[in-house]
Amino acid sequence: MIIRLEQPKDWREVENLTRESFWNVYRPGCQEHFVLNQFRNNPSFIPKLDFVMEEDGRIIGHVMFSKAEITLTDGTAFPSWTFGPISIHPDCKRKGYGLKLLLHALGKARAIGVGLLQMEGNIDFYKHAGFDLASKLKIHYHGEPAESEVPYFLAQELIPGYWGDREGTYCPPAGYFVAETNPEAFKAYEASFPLKEKHLVPGQLPQFCQSCGMPLTKDDDCGRNADGSVNFDYCQYCFPMLKRWRK
Ligand SMILES: CC(C)(COP(=O)(O)OP(=O)(O)OC[C@H]1O[C@@H](n2cnc3c(N)ncnc32)[C@H](O)[C@@H]1OP(=O)(O)O)[C@@H](O)C(=O)NCCC(=O)NCCS
Repeated sequence: MIIRLEQPKDWREVENLTRESFWNVYRPGCQEHFVLNQFRNNPSFIPKLDFVMEEDGRIIGHVMFSKAEITLTDGTAFPSWTFGPISIHPDCKRKGYGLKLLLHALGKARAIGVGLLQMEGNIDFYKHAGFDLASKLKIHYHGEPAESEVPYFLAQELIPGYWGDREGTYCPPAGYFVAETNPEAFKAYEASFPLKEKHLVPGQLPQFCQSCGMPLTKDDDCGRNADGSVNFDYCQYCFPMLKRWRK
């Protein structure tokens, strides 16, 4: 197994890996492969911290980093960094590869002066690489009350003293929201991959009907499109009514 920098010839393979890795994990389908696809043109993207993990000529892991910032309590922007998506191929998950890749990348990041990282993730994985709740460093998450301990918002000072005793609020860079801000481009991009079934499965982020707010926890809670596919935006009660109103 080797870890090396990503090259342009890897791009499609890595985006496919990201799609396979994230598919139905946090939501029906996923968006992370499009985030990565668009990020490589973003000035915040850090090519020196864009790693693939390769085994027997096949790419089984990937992670990318981005510049970010934290807004301090006095309103000034403080330079920081974030990372993700990080992906391990579904065949290779829970065999220690993800942690190896992340620890390698963190070492390289520290070496080029990355002093502080914060991101959203599962502490059960990231604690093995030194991450803890960002609230312990007085870094708050945008849209959440400053006093709340956001369980999925994590941080780590890579260079001791870089953050110090400051206090501030983090909002992920705009590059992470491209699928929401450009849904048509995302749809066209997704259509360039082989069809994969989307499903609501336990463990995903909470999904709600966009009309009545009912929690959507399984495919049968959702409406059905004319072609029989699941409509993950509306529940089985609101969707037929919306279809009638739209006629
Ligand atoms: C998350 C991910 C990168 C972890 O890589 P991995 O190779 O599967 O994880 P590792 O085997 O290196 O895990 C090291 C330890 O972290 C913990 N861990 C890993 N993934 C975990 C998860 N999803 N939930 C809880 N704990 C987890 C475990 O304690 C594991 O040790 P164990 O196998 O002895 O239980 C990988 O599973 C993945 O690509 N997942 C889908 C995409 C994703 O969620 N990316 C992260 C977005 S924040």
